[in-house]
Amino acid sequence: MAIAAAIVASSTLGAGAVIAGTGAGDDQALQPVRTQANGGIERKVDRLIRQMTVDEKLQQVQLLSDGQITDDDAQKGVGGVFSLTDPAKIDHFQHVAVEQSRLHIPILFAYDTIHGYRTVFPVPLAEASSFDPDVATDDYTISSRESAAVGIKQIYSPMVDVSHEPRWGRIVEASGEDPYLGSVMAATKVRAAQGPDYSAPDKVVTSVKHLAAYGLAEGGRDYNTTDVSEQRLRNLILPPFKAAIDAGADTAMCSFNSINGQPGCANPHTETDILKKEWGFDGFLESDYTAVAELRACPPKNPDEGPCGHGVAADGPSAGALALNAGTDSEMVSTNIRDNGKQLLSTGQISMRRLDDAVRRILRVKFRAGLFDHPYVDQAAIAGKTLQPADRDAARKAAGRSVVLLKNDDNTLPLDPAKSVAVIGPLGDDQHDMLGPWWGQGKDEDAVSLYTGIKAYNPDATFTEGCKMIDADLYDPANECGSDAGFADAVAAANAADQVVLALGETRGQGGEAEVRSVLDLPGKQQELLDAVKATGKPVTVVLFNSRPLTLGKVVDSSNAILEAWFGGIEAGNGVADVLFGKVNPGGKLPVSFPQSVGQIPIYYNHEPTGRPCDTTQKYNSRYRDLPTCAPLFPFGFGLSYTTFKIDNLVLSDKSMPARGSVQVSADVQNTGSRAGDDVVQLYIHDPVASLSQPVRRLRGFQRVTLDAGEKKTVTFRLDASDVGFYDNSGRFTVEPGEIDVFAGDSSTADLTDSFTVTSGRR
Ligand code: NOJ
Repeated sequence: MAIAAAIVASSTLGAGAVIAGTGAGDDQALQPVRTQANGGIERKVDRLIRQMTVDEKLQQVQLLSDGQITDDDAQKGVGGVFSLTDPAKIDHFQHVAVEQSRLHIPILFAYDTIHGYRTVFPVPLAEASSFDPDVATDDYTISSRESAAVGIKQIYSPMVDVSHEPRWGRIVEASGEDPYLGSVMAATKVRAAQGPDYSAPDKVVTSVKHLAAYGLAEGGRDYNTTDVSEQRLRNLILPPFKAAIDAGADTAMCSFNSINGQPGCANPHTETDILKKEWGFDGFLESDYTAVAELRACPPKNPDEGPCGHGVAADGPSAGALALNAGTDSEMVSTNIRDNGKQLLSTGQISMRRLDDAVRRILRVKFRAGLFDHPYVDQAAIAGKTLQPADRDAARKAAGRSVVLLKNDDNTLPLDPAKSVAVIGPLGDDQHDMLGPWWGQGKDEDAVSLYTGIKAYNPDATFTEGCKMIDADLYDPANECGSDAGFADAVAAANAADQVVLALGETRGQGGEAEVRSVLDLPGKQQELLDAVKATGKPVTVVLFNSRPLTLGKVVDSSNAILEAWFGGIEAGNGVADVLFGKVNPGGKLPVSFPQSVGQIPIYYNHEPTGRPCDTTQKYNSRYRDLPTCAPLFPFGFGLSYTTFKIDNLVLSDKSMPARGSVQVSADVQNTGSRAGDDVVQLYIHDPVASLSQPVRRLRGFQRVTLDAGEKKTVTFRLDASDVGFYDNSGRFTVEPGEIDVFAGDSSTADLTDSFTVTSGRR
C-alpha cells in the first residue's frame, strides 16, 4: 500500500511555494528500502549451509534468553540471544561463538528496545499522539545507536498491533486504533533504526511484531483468542506490518494468540503465504517467548518442554514441526525445534529444505548486519554514544509534542508563572513511572518528575502527594491510592496556592504485558482526591500519566483543564512543564478513542456502518440504552490547543479518478487565535456504496503544521487506488467504481466534505 503524499504550501513563503512534508506525507521517505538480495551474501550463506551439520543448523534456529545462554551454547553455535545487556557478557559470548564454534558464526544479540534504550522516550502510544513522525525518528535514531553500542544488533520493535482494546495493557506499546497512523509510525521507526544499511555501527535490524491480530484479544485479556475475517485482517491489522516490511524490517515476531483457531506461531497463512510469499520477506521470523511450547495441549506430556496451551500439538516434537512448517524460523526460549529436529527429519515431519530455508534467513540477516565482519563490542566507545545532552533535548521535545490537551475551560492553561502553583497527586514527583512499561535500560534517576519540571518555571511551587500509587506486579488496593489520609494536606496545599496541577493516572506496571484492567476509571481513591481538591475552588489542571484510554467522564466534570501526558520518558517532567507554562503549545491528538464507559468498548472511529445506526432518541438501533450519546468521550484525532484553528476551502483536483489515476485534495488551515501553535490536518475518506460494507471513516493522510498567529497554510494530500481500494474476504485488493466521500479537519469528526467518483474498477 502506498502512503498518500502530503504537501504543505505555506502562504508565508509566497504563492506556490511547496515544502515537502515530513514522514507521513513524504512519498520519497516511504519508498521501500528493502536490502537487495546480494549475490555475495547469498553465496556466503550457501557455502556455510553446505558445511553445517544438522546439529549446527538446529542450533542456529534457537534463540535463548539472557538467563539461559551458557558458553556451551555459544560453542555449539546458538543462533540468537535476547535480553542480555551487559556489554562485557555480550562480548564474551560473542568471542566464544566466533572463536570456539566450529564454523565461527556470530550470535545475533537482541533486545526489547521499544521507546528508547537508555534515553527513554515517550511510550509508543504517546509518540503516535504527536502525529509527528519526526518524534519517532529521533527516538529510533538514538535508541538504535545506544543499543548497537553495547552489542545489540536486533531490536524487538516496532510493535505495530492495531487495537480496539483499552483494557489490554499492551495498547500502550503500539500506535493505537488506526492502521494508517500505525503504518506511518512503523515505517518511520524501521527507517530510523536500520538506516539504509543496518551493518552501520549505530544501526540495528528491527523485528516488527506481533504477527498477527494480537491487539484484538477478546475481552482485552492478554494472549487471548482472536477471530478475524480475512478482510479485517488485511484492511485493519496487516497494513502496519506491510509498511514496516516495505521500509526494510528484516525480522519479525509471530504472536502468542490464535487467529481463527491457528496460533500466530503455527499459522502458515500469516507467516508463509502473506509475509514470505506475498510480501517477499526474505529475513527471518522468530517466535514469541515459549510460543512454540504453548502450541501443545495441556497438561503437557513433558512439562520440561515449557508451558502448554493452545492444544494444536500433542507434544513437543509436533509443536516444533508445526511451528517450523508454518514459517517460524527461530524458536524463542523453548527448544522444541532444536531438541527434536533430528527425529522430525528422520520421520519426515520436517524437511531439510525447510530447515535450510530457516537457517538461510537467519544467516542472511547476520551477514546484512555486518556481524561476520564486526562481531565484537567496542566497550570504550559506549559512554560517548549514550544519553548525550542532545539526546535528552530530543526526548524533551518528544515529550512535549506527545501531550494531548483534552480540556481547557476559561484558558486555565497555560499557567500564569507569576502566580503560585501547588503540585499535588501520587504521580506529581514520580520518576519511576515516567519511564513507562518498557523502560529498556532507563534508570529512574535519569527521569525528570513533573514537580522538578514545574520548579524550573516556578521555583516556589509546592508538592503534596495526597496518596500513594505504588508500582507492583500484583493487584493490591492499598497500592493504588488506597488511603485518603493525605487528602487534608492536599486540600491545604491547594488552598494555599493560586493554581493546582494534579498528577493522576496509573503506575507504569498497570500497563504493558499481562496488565489488563476491567475498570478504566482512575485507580483507587484518585477521583476522590480530585473532588476534594476541586472543592477548594482553585483552578485545577489534571495531568494524566497512564498507558491506555481511561474513562474520564468524572475527571472532566471535576477539573478545569486536562492534559493527557501518557508516560513521557526521562524528560516527561520537563516536557509537560513546557506545555503547562505555554513554552510549547500542545498539538498532540488522540491515536485512540476514549470510551465513555467500559461497556462501550470496543469503540473506534473506523467502524463499519450498521443497518440501524446508533440513535439514542429511538428504539431498535445500535445504541446503549443507558448512555445518552453514541459518541466516545473523546474521539480519535481529537486534541485542543491554546490557540484556535479554522480548516476550510477543501479543493479536489478532479471530480473523477480512473483506478490508475490520483486525485489531489487540499485544504486551508489557519491559526485564528493570538499565539503560535500546531494543528494536525487529517484527511479521511468513506466509500458509501461498496461490495463490502466500508468503515464510516478511514484516515488516509495527516500533517502536523505549525502556524503563527493569523498564519494560513494549504495542506495537500494525494489519493490513489491504494487509498480508495480495500481487501475482500478472499484476500484480493479491489478498487470499485463509485463515489468516494472525502473529509478534512482536525479530528475524526471532521465535517468539511466533498466527493469524487472512481470511474473504473480494478482487482
Ligand atoms: C514477550 C513479548 O510478547 C514480546 O513482545 C517480547 O519481545 C518478548 N517477550 C521478548 O522479551
